[in-house]
Amino acid sequence: MKYTIAPISTLIYQRSHRRRQALAAAVAALLVAGAAAALVAGPSAGSANALANGLALTPPMGWNDWNAYKCNVSEALVKQTADKIVSSGLATAGYQYVNIDDCWMQSTRDSSGNLRPDYTKFPDGISGTAAYVHAKGLKLGIYEDAGTHTCKGYPGSLGHESQDAKLFASWKVDYLKYDNCYNQGVSAQTRYTTMRNALQATGRPMVYSICEIGFSSPWLWAANVGNLWRTTNDIQPNYASMLSIFHKNVTLSQYAAPGHWNDPDMLEIGNGMTATEDHTEFSLWAEMAAPLLAGDNLVNASATTLSILGNKAVIAVDQDSLGRQGRMIRSSGGLDVLAKPLANGDVAVVLFNENSAAATISTTASAIGKSGASSYTLTDLWTGAVRTTSSTISASVPGHGVVMYRVH
Ligand code: GLA
Repeated sequence: MKYTIAPISTLIYQRSHRRRQALAAAVAALLVAGAAAALVAGPSAGSANALANGLALTPPMGWNDWNAYKCNVSEALVKQTADKIVSSGLATAGYQYVNIDDCWMQSTRDSSGNLRPDYTKFPDGISGTAAYVHAKGLKLGIYEDAGTHTCKGYPGSLGHESQDAKLFASWKVDYLKYDNCYNQGVSAQTRYTTMRNALQATGRPMVYSICEIGFSSPWLWAANVGNLWRTTNDIQPNYASMLSIFHKNVTLSQYAAPGHWNDPDMLEIGNGMTATEDHTEFSLWAEMAAPLLAGDNLVNASATTLSILGNKAVIAVDQDSLGRQGRMIRSSGGLDVLAKPLANGDVAVVLFNENSAAATISTTASAIGKSGASSYTLTDLWTGAVRTTSSTISASVPGHGVVMYRVH
C-alpha cells in the first residue's frame, strides 16, 4: 500500500488534542466526584486480557532522552547516561530501560527498505549501543512511529511493521515506543495491533509502548495490544502541564493492571520545576502506577534530583506487585486525597495541595479503605518520620506540594 506524506497531520494531532485537553479539564471535576464515591478497593481491569509478552508486570522504569535533549540524541549520550544510571545507584533502585527517542535514524531507508541509524550520531549503530547498555546490566529502548514518518520527519513504520520489528530484534532492542504522527487516518487500533503482531513474530520480548496520546481512548482497547499507553499530549517542564496531565490520568485508574499501564508521559524532574513540584510529580506518578522514565540530563543531575528519583520508599509504591493505580478519593478546592492499595494490605496515601498557599489536608483510615485496627502506623515516605493514629490522617501541605504516607 502507498501512503502519501501529510505534514499537516502533525498540526491536527496537536490542535485537536488541545481541544480534548480543555474538555478533559472541564469534566475532571465531575469525574472526581464520581471517583470519590467509589470505594478505594473498587474493580480493576485485571490482567486476564493483558498482552501475552510477560513484560511490564510492574510499570517500566528507566530514562528517555526526549524531554531534555529533543533531537540531540547520540550514542555518547546514551552510553554516558547508562554509566550514570549504574554509578548513581539508580539501576539498583529499579531504573532499567535506557530509551532512545526520535531522530536516531537517517532520513531514508536503504535500497532493501531497511531503516538506517544516523552514523554520525551512532557510530556503532543501534546494535553497538545496545551491546554497551546490555554490558552495564541495562536494557535498550528505541522509538518509531505508526505512520509514514516520525513526528520529526524520519521514515515511519506504517506498511513496514514486519521488516522494522525484525530489524529491532536483530539489534537486540528491548523496548519500542511507537508514536502516532503522519498516521494517514488509518485506525489506531489497526496500526498498533499490526506492530504488536510484528513484534510478537520476532520472538524477542520487547516492551511495547503505545504513544498514541489519547485520541482514540487506548485504555479501552489496548490492554492486550501494548504494555503502556500515553493518555495525554506531551508533558512540558512546568507545574501547569504536569497538573493537567495528572487530572486526566488520575481518572483512568480502572484500566491499569500488571502488564498494561496508563502512561502520563515521562518525568520532568530536574528540568525546571521547583524542588517541591519535582517531589510532587514523583509522588503522583508513583501513586498512579505510572512508568517512571526520567527525562532529564542525568549525567549532570543535582543531588536533589537524584535523591527524588532514587527514593526507594516511593518507588516501592509505584512498583507494588498488586499493580493498582491510586484513585482520587476526595478533591475539593484543589485539595486532593489519593489512595493506592498495596499487596501487603498497606495503603499509600498522597495528600496533594494543588494551590499556591499551604493548607491542611485531612482524611481518615476508613476513607482510604482501612478498618478494624485500633491504631495505624503512618510512615512519611519523604522524611521517613513514623507516627501512629487511631483514624485521622492529616498534614499541613505546602503549595504545589504533597505529603505521602504509607499506612499500615
Ligand atoms: C511526540 C511524542 C513525544 C516524542 C516526540 C518525538 O511528540 O509524544 O514523546 O516522542 O513525538 O518527535
